[in-house]
Amino acid sequence: MDYLCQPARTLRGCLRVPGDKSISHRAVMLAAIADGSSHIRGFLPGEDCLATLRAFTGMGVEAERLSDTELRIHGVGRYGLKPPAGPIDLGNSGTSMRLLAGLLCAQPFAITLTGDASLTRRPMRRVTEPLGQMGARITTSETGTAPLTLQPADAGLRAIRYHSPVASAQIKSAVLLAGLYAEGRTELVEPEASRDHSERMLRAFGVELEAHAGFAALEGGQELRAVDIDVPSDISSAAFFLVGAAVTPGSELTLQNVGLNPTRTGIIDILRTLKADIDIANERTVGGEPVGDIRVRGGELKAATISGSVVGRAIDEMPAVFVAAACATGETIIRDAAELRVKESDRIQSMVDALRALGISAVPEADGARILGGRMHGGVVDACDDHRVAMSMAIASLRAEQPIRIRHCDNVQTSFPGFVEMANAVGLELRVLNDCPEVA
Ligand code: S3P
Repeated sequence: MDYLCQPARTLRGCLRVPGDKSISHRAVMLAAIADGSSHIRGFLPGEDCLATLRAFTGMGVEAERLSDTELRIHGVGRYGLKPPAGPIDLGNSGTSMRLLAGLLCAQPFAITLTGDASLTRRPMRRVTEPLGQMGARITTSETGTAPLTLQPADAGLRAIRYHSPVASAQIKSAVLLAGLYAEGRTELVEPEASRDHSERMLRAFGVELEAHAGFAALEGGQELRAVDIDVPSDISSAAFFLVGAAVTPGSELTLQNVGLNPTRTGIIDILRTLKADIDIANERTVGGEPVGDIRVRGGELKAATISGSVVGRAIDEMPAVFVAAACATGETIIRDAAELRVKESDRIQSMVDALRALGISAVPEADGARILGGRMHGGVVDACDDHRVAMSMAIASLRAEQPIRIRHCDNVQTSFPGFVEMANAVGLELRVLNDCPEVA
């Protein structure tokens, strides 16, 4: 599927983007192994979270789909899962695969986790290595990728203190989830604080846990108690609209009920560094997560150097930041973003190639890029089957002089069902082209 994006001029109105992907995954996982029934509202019905949900229904967990975004999950307890009928296909979802590796490696039956072409290229040793130290028996391909085969850990899991070489919520969560099944106290230290949704939600499910920036620890053997969960809107989905409105004078957009967990708000800080006009109102706490409404007004952005811990706090929003940089006056330098190379695509290369195809001067670097703001003409760009590259380039049409055709956009469904309709409702002019011939 391709998108055809006609040049648009401003974004105006009020939006409530779908539920947070990270929180939706965790809500399903913890509800499934809790005792009792959990009611989840605001669930993201994107392909990634549905893959997590299907993994559990395939292991005997009953999930009532009350609406697209509302679920009641009847937890089976930590040891109530049943062997799946075959390999569990997690599609495009790295979060599903890495967290489930941790959660499932202590089960008393064998499990195979697999996924699509992109997921089976992504590095998995970052989780299988610490889980192996805990006694898990997981095999990967020779290159350390999926499929992952989990064999029962005959002697049970033992707690470890793990110093993660990368700040990664997926590594941290995999180790903590395995730690629920381990004997003793599992501790995880990371070089910088990664998103802490797992810690917050484990607490909501009654797990005692010690956590502060860059550290988390829990005692094994704790049971989870069902709880009701309200999932806030995903700041990662809001980010496309924040950038789109920020780069177009005359825009004024409000994004409601957005999750504002401080480990995720780097995009707001980055846009403010680029001199965007952003206000936050109605700040409150919902289900242990900070939430608020974000209002953004369009203007002229100014280039800056973006590096350090703010990059980790905006890692999924960096493709949209590349577009903001292309619209800013001057050269923006992005550093400390090497993790972008191992996301759904190599996002440094995908975004540099896409922006260059529109006439922007962009130079890739090992851990970032240099992007010179300038005029964007139209053209054909490749989203590389990466949802966030596709949506970022759709936003670029707000500043492009000619239409942009974006190839390979199907995976937008993984994180943002309804993106095209929502985008068009506030001022973009996107059309979906199906069955289009390959463009030379
Ligand atoms: C996620 C963690 C992040 C992020 C990913 C979702 C999560 O990856 O990029 O999209 O839900 O735990 P890291 O594990 O690299 O932090």
